[in-house]
Amino acid sequence: MLQRHSLKLGKFSIRTLATGAPLDASKLKITRNPNPSKPRPNEELVFGQTFTDHMLTIPWSAKEGWGTPHIKPYGNLSLDPSACVFHYAFELFEGLKAYRTPQNTITMFRPDKNMTRMNKSAARICLPTFESEELIKLTGKLIEQDKHLVPQGNGYSLYIRPTMIGTSKGLGVGTPSEALLYVITSPVGPYYKTGFKAVRLEATDYATRAWPGGVGDKKLGANYAPCILPQLQAAERGYQQNLWLFGPEKNITEVGTMNVFFVFLNKVTGKKELVTAPLDGTILEGVTRDSVLTLARDKLDPQEWDINERYYTITEVATRAQQGELLEAFGSGTAAVVSPIKEIGWNNEDIHVPLLPGEQCGALTKQVAQWIADIQYGRVNYGNWSKTVADLN
Ligand code: COI
Repeated sequence: MLQRHSLKLGKFSIRTLATGAPLDASKLKITRNPNPSKPRPNEELVFGQTFTDHMLTIPWSAKEGWGTPHIKPYGNLSLDPSACVFHYAFELFEGLKAYRTPQNTITMFRPDKNMTRMNKSAARICLPTFESEELIKLTGKLIEQDKHLVPQGNGYSLYIRPTMIGTSKGLGVGTPSEALLYVITSPVGPYYKTGFKAVRLEATDYATRAWPGGVGDKKLGANYAPCILPQLQAAERGYQQNLWLFGPEKNITEVGTMNVFFVFLNKVTGKKELVTAPLDGTILEGVTRDSVLTLARDKLDPQEWDINERYYTITEVATRAQQGELLEAFGSGTAAVVSPIKEIGWNNEDIHVPLLPGEQCGALTKQVAQWIADIQYGRVNYGNWSKTVADLN
């Protein structure tokens, strides 16, 4: 069977070919872990350090298409040392979370967005695309297996890591003929245990995270490893993360592994502006980024606020800070949701970003975090952003 998928990649709409059987959740096979674990106390949960009892694996081959989805005990993979993932970085991943709600259900937050992005990442590196709804169903089944390990409480959740790797043997560089899609899950606590902690950034023009025509908008493992050395270099100078600049204009693009937002005041009109870089192919299509923009456009008064996806530079930030027009800045991502910024090192000086008196963030940052948490924890319904995967009643 030959399936045709059409995916929008940057300016181009490309047709991807997936040969063989489609991904089919009804074929699921389950092998239970004979040694189920007990939930750890919330205070012991460290991001991505412990995993639940089960994992989901789905093999793919060019000849057969998607094979049998299998939920089985969490454990090592066995791969040929020549597998293309190890040599040519045929790897992509996603990150999303599941939450326990006051109605005693478990929900995933906007999983459709992650599936769409995962398919775009797969198409870009010639790994197979798949039926998004089927992987959402299968991930739901995986979470249901380990539902006792989904933590309870504000700030606590189950981090879900769908991953796809090319597994074809051999050192020739080409399209993988075999792949493995797998999903693992990790019970996690709040990124900042004691509430927000605003971070210091080094504006970075000595290394480039992404560039036009590249793959910075895809969630490929290969985008992450090269960013560690600049982070260590910034850390030597006392900064926790890099504020990634691009081009001779020194456009602000992202921060660390997150999208980034700035809030400016126009002193002439009195209007405030929430700004983030446009999705021009160099910016990851963050689900939290989209959630911030959607909620801000929905909830903030347009008489008082402009919400813009536009280019802006470190020079604009520095100048407007001097003029008292820089109000706030924060990173956005699945892991931390929002991460407030307090200082930016640039040209041997620190640009100071205001914080609320006695607090670690600005007013909008706090508001946005609350809006998103209320939806994630099921205190507020918003569109179809929460997808129920288990009803524990
Ligand atoms: C996120 O902010 O959710 C990320 O993508 C970080 C992840 C690579 C740990």
